[in-house]
Amino acid sequence: MTTVHGGLDTAELRGLGLMPEQLLDFSSNINPLGISRRVREAASRANLSAYPDRHCLELREALAARLDVSIDNILVGNGSVQLIHLLARARLSPVQSCLIFAPTFGEYEEAATLAGGGVHTVQAKEADGFRWSIDTATRAIKRIRPSLVFLCNPNNPTGVFLDCEEVKRIRDAMGRNGLLVLDDSYSALADRPWNAIPLLDLGSVTILRSMTKEHALAGVRLGYMIAKANVISATARLQPAWSVNDVAQAAGLAALRDDDHIEAARKVVAESKAYLYHELNALGLPVWPSAANFLLVRVGKGAKVRSALLKKRVVVRDCTSFGLPEHIRIAVRRPEECQRLIQSLREVLGNE
Ligand SMILES: Cc1ncc(COP(=O)(O)O)c(C=O)c1O
Repeated sequence: MTTVHGGLDTAELRGLGLMPEQLLDFSSNINPLGISRRVREAASRANLSAYPDRHCLELREALAARLDVSIDNILVGNGSVQLIHLLARARLSPVQSCLIFAPTFGEYEEAATLAGGGVHTVQAKEADGFRWSIDTATRAIKRIRPSLVFLCNPNNPTGVFLDCEEVKRIRDAMGRNGLLVLDDSYSALADRPWNAIPLLDLGSVTILRSMTKEHALAGVRLGYMIAKANVISATARLQPAWSVNDVAQAAGLAALRDDDHIEAARKVVAESKAYLYHELNALGLPVWPSAANFLLVRVGKGAKVRSALLKKRVVVRDCTSFGLPEHIRIAVRRPEECQRLIQSLREVLGNE
């Protein structure tokens, strides 16, 4: 495992003599309200002794009913990251390549490299507000003819959110041979989310969803993909048995019956995001408009600011591994927690 991620690192914390519960974590982009009571109760009733259902039948049935697709169009994974790796293994080889819309989540490149595939990127520039030129991207796709295209929408870490027409143009440029992996992991908590499911009718599209983000189940690991049945079966063949444990399946089923929790989280994200934009601007820090539940902020030296904040028991994501060493990424949390972050940033930047 070489990809750098947000989240707390036990070894690093030990070195600093800190305990995870002493920290306020802005480095994982999860639901600011945490796990709902219903989900916690359902998870606590899971059977820890029996093998879980290998095929996640009940959860797939609930997802299929909700998304209006067949259960044959759904594969559940040990986090969406497992599905990213399985897709890369299913679709890439040393004579095939993928194209990644960058800067973005590091596991796409990791998965493609481990699968032996070539990696191309379409790079967004800060000067363009981190928006990709769709013309440049479609030309690259036609030239390279990738077997896989990874597009994170809204994108981690920039918060750029392409609309349906832009995604369709990317899909159309691919023709029939490639598979577009649309990583929808952050759409549930995004501003103005749109329904990507109808894109499946175009063929050669897979939608990835992460329940670890919207329901704060990062420790449980739960994600799923939606695709044509032949893509699902080719990917499922590579999945180790019992990848999705019973706690995750029980939590997932309860989460699907708890839309109120997502609605409440969306309100918190909207309120805190407005507060953060305002305060970051007041600190003179450039912050990019983000449709997602996290913000990309230019602070000068991302690694240095992260270390200084850590000493104040606040964790942010240094974006050096995204190729953005001047930036940090901040997850949107509850208003009172965001106030603590702003106060700590003010102290670290010497504005007080
Ligand atoms: C864009 C994106 N996709 C997928 C994942 C992995 O999510 P999961 O916890 O479902 O494996 C992450 C995690 O940070 C992510 O940022």
